[in-house]
Amino acid sequence: MAGGSAGKITVLHGPNLDRLGTREPEIYGTETLESVNREIRALAESLGYTIEIRQTNQQGEMIEHLRWADGDSVGIILNAGAWTHTSLALREAVRGLRVPAIEVHLSNVYAREPFRRTSVIEDLVAGKILGFGKESYLLAVRAIDSLHRRKTRRP
Ligand code: DQA
Repeated sequence: MAGGSAGKITVLHGPNLDRLGTREPEIYGTETLESVNREIRALAESLGYTIEIRQTNQQGEMIEHLRWADGDSVGIILNAGAWTHTSLALREAVRGLRVPAIEVHLSNVYAREPFRRTSVIEDLVAGKILGFGKESYLLAVRAIDSLHRRKTRRP
């Protein structure tokens, strides 16, 4: 499907992800967020979606982005960074969503410090993808596409 007619996918990056490329490159790689976003956009558009990508270091802003995305997207890809492990406000915002959300992490959070093994949203999301670096986001685009095709009964 061409021209974005399949709907919109929203990608939300949380705190400190704007520092990709320089932040702990041994864990997160050397590619910038801008470069990762370009690949996400290219894949989503090639599958027929329009895409909105936001990054914020403010928790209230993230909650508002989630609400806006819920109104106009077919699915949400969410890397909430450290808020994933701690934020009940984030949990309650995700609980209210009507469209599927995919939890994404660049790193394998289970192979790191124990506090990263907790996710306050994992039982509320459609699924989670982690540990594949920027590929985690690309796999999440494919997951949203697959869920959306099933829902709209497209092959
Ligand atoms: C992260 C993992 C989180 O534990 C961390 O706080 C981040 C990034 C990831 O993408 O691997 O900010 O979400």
